[in-house]
Amino acid sequence: MIYEAVITTRNEDGSDRIAPLGYQEEEGLIILSPFSPSTTLRNLERTHQAVLNMTDNVAVIAGCLTGHHEWPLVPAEKIPGSRLEDTLAHRELKVERIEEDNIRPRFYCRILHEKVHKPFRGFNRAKNAVLEAAILVSRLHMLPTEKIDAEIEYLKIAIDKTAGEQEQRAWNWLMERISDYREGREK
Ligand SMILES: Cc1cc2nc3c(=O)[nH]c(=O)nc-3n(C[C@H](O)[C@H](O)[C@H](O)COP(=O)(O)O)c2cc1C
Repeated sequence: MIYEAVITTRNEDGSDRIAPLGYQEEEGLIILSPFSPSTTLRNLERTHQAVLNMTDNVAVIAGCLTGHHEWPLVPAEKIPGSRLEDTLAHRELKVERIEEDNIRPRFYCRILHEKVHKPFRGFNRAKNAVLEAAILVSRLHMLPTEKIDAEIEYLKIAIDKTAGEQEQRAWNWLMERISDYREGREK
């Protein structure tokens, strides 16, 4: 099973990199598998540490894909790193083993510390729609235009019916990115 979360890793200059990332759990370990090349991958290789943020703030996920990288952070408790301020829970991770691969290495991580900050309030269709649209946006260069248009048309129903301000803003960023891509402003 794959969960979608937001990972924070420490850059060489001491700042933090925030990126949406899928993760799996296997026998008590967290498995992260970032594609190469990426800043998150380089940070994981260098520091062997990361924070996994289980957030339902989909604006962070859409924001990271559309150039909005500044999100409030607070220091992690057991490792030199940061967690998102707005997260339901977080886990502080130490890389225990790396399964090397030129395209997509797998990092097996031990949970050093975890904390719940807020209760899960239930599913929201607009949050799910933003998540699915974010996946489409991260694959614009791979997917046919008609497939993207058909999926966006369907996902927009949930946005129109159930979005709050956060989900609407996130959706708008993603739609702008699709238009920019098609008009050649983004590669
Ligand atoms: C919901 C979601 C899940 C993602 N999961 C992964 C993943 O598991 N591995 C990966 O390499 N990129 C994944 N991505 C794309 C990365 O977030 C994106 O490529 C990131 O910008 C690369 O890392 P960097 O910003 O540190 O260079 C995902 C994107 C979204 C929206």
